[in-house]
Amino acid sequence: MGKVIAIDGPSGSGKSTISKKIADRLGYTYLDTGALYRSVALKLRNSSVPEDASDAEIASILKDTSVKVRDGDIYLDGALVGDEIRTTEIGHYSSVFSARKVVRDFLFDIQRSASDDNDIVAEGRDMTTVVFPDAYRKFFLTASDEERAGRRFRQLKDKGMDITVQQAMDDVKKRDERDSNRDIAPLKKAEDATMIDTSSMSIEQTIDIILEHITG
Ligand code: DC
Repeated sequence: MGKVIAIDGPSGSGKSTISKKIADRLGYTYLDTGALYRSVALKLRNSSVPEDASDAEIASILKDTSVKVRDGDIYLDGALVGDEIRTTEIGHYSSVFSARKVVRDFLFDIQRSASDDNDIVAEGRDMTTVVFPDAYRKFFLTASDEERAGRRFRQLKDKGMDITVQQAMDDVKKRDERDSNRDIAPLKKAEDATMIDTSSMSIEQTIDIILEHITG
């Protein structure tokens, strides 16, 4: 079992960019668990599973679904997953389906085993609370709603998507609400996680603070 640095937080808190860079600096593997939920959502959507599908219906698709993580890369049914999971539509489905126990159970072992042979930086909504409660270091990143919506807007614009600031704000708020208020594994700070508000911090400043906590 390798060392795990667990980083949670809402969308737009900067956790993906920061987790990736921390992993690079430390020579750890980056585990993007949001991408796992997005990959499952893509499969369910492509299999025409409706949002209000029964557990049995979801389970029957997952039974024939293979999700593998190799050096941080994700393979869905054998194919390397790319930017097709980064659309707002798949973001929506991943938020909806990630509230389902049958989906979370499916991904639990896949996430845990990513640290079997590697030191990892695991990033998501429940890394510090559910998946790696025993992590070596835990962080909870946050930022103001405005800042997070602005970041989401710039991120999607950079990918060439047609979106307004208001749509980015609505998207961020809706997903926060759903991710924080669901019954299982809601987004919340673990008691022993270090909280960092990144609203007025640069990425480099945030990374320095986290590295200080890890090595200090
Ligand atoms: O971080 P992201 O936007 O790529 O995550 C997509 C969705 O997946 C998000 O709405 C919440 C869900 N998710 C989750 O429930 N648990 C995780 N560990 C990671 C993501």
